[in-house]
Amino acid sequence: MRIVPTIAELRTALAGAGPVNLVPTMGNLHAGHLSLVSAARQRPGRLVTSIFVNRLQFGPQEDFSRYPRTLDADCRLLESAGCDLVFAPANEEMYPQDQEYKLVPPAAMADMFEGAVRPGFFIGVCTVVLKLFHIVRPDAAFFGKKDYQQLLIIQRMVAQLAMPIEVVGCETVRDNHGLALSSRNGYLSAAELVEAAELRRTLRKVASNVRAGAAWPDLERRALESLRSRHWQPDYIAVRGRADLGIAEAADPLVVIGAARLGGTRLIDNYEIP
Ligand code: PAJ
Repeated sequence: MRIVPTIAELRTALAGAGPVNLVPTMGNLHAGHLSLVSAARQRPGRLVTSIFVNRLQFGPQEDFSRYPRTLDADCRLLESAGCDLVFAPANEEMYPQDQEYKLVPPAAMADMFEGAVRPGFFIGVCTVVLKLFHIVRPDAAFFGKKDYQQLLIIQRMVAQLAMPIEVVGCETVRDNHGLALSSRNGYLSAAELVEAAELRRTLRKVASNVRAGAAWPDLERRALESLRSRHWQPDYIAVRGRADLGIAEAADPLVVIGAARLGGTRLIDNYEIP
């Protein structure tokens, strides 16, 4: 496995290499990321994982500087997972100048939920993903359903910009208690780690009550109240359409999405309603 820090070296390494599969990450890899790597491994061709903590998608008050950076451990995991190339650029390599050209996703998809709580977040995500796509030129790119809104926004970006890339959505990997694995789980105390699985249980309960025919706004409100009573600070809990997270009907494919802060840690999750 090669670790490549520059765009020029990456392009040379991939020239004429045949199909390329890309797993974009910000590092501090866990079994969730590795499930994307193993999905990508099923495809013929070369497997590139990018590791880049993208300053553009962090707000001024967010955890950019304390975001865990564990490149050596990440590379060991990727090597045993069968990755061919790790693209791990420095900040100056990705952004040698201020990134003045940015990709602005549609407000209807990107200014709600994660985008409402974190203004500019999806501009930062789309811009870096577009740039990674230009650098790596993958045939397929793999994203987790854990970040449901991110996955949908990138799928639509690729479709509307006619990019010849298949965006593959992969299932969320969880711990034994049902907590979605996340690099930010490392910020949780031992007691919070136990409580953290409550977010998933809350979303699952909303999902089963949707199917039982209850009114969605009541379910959303009760779920928010229940989390607050357990000392969470929820940002949103919502029943939406799986296609674009818009307002949907009971007959549409549905998903319950949620985000909440537990102590100092912000967690997000979702539950696709069967
Ligand atoms: P990061 O948070 O490192 O996540 C990289 C990829 O791993 C994303 O597609 C995310 O959805 C997926 N992932 C994270 N936890 C997962 C889990 N428990 N199960 C399955 N997949 C999981 O998301 C980003 O980085 C960035 O926004 C990025 C797309 C790299 C752009 O900077």
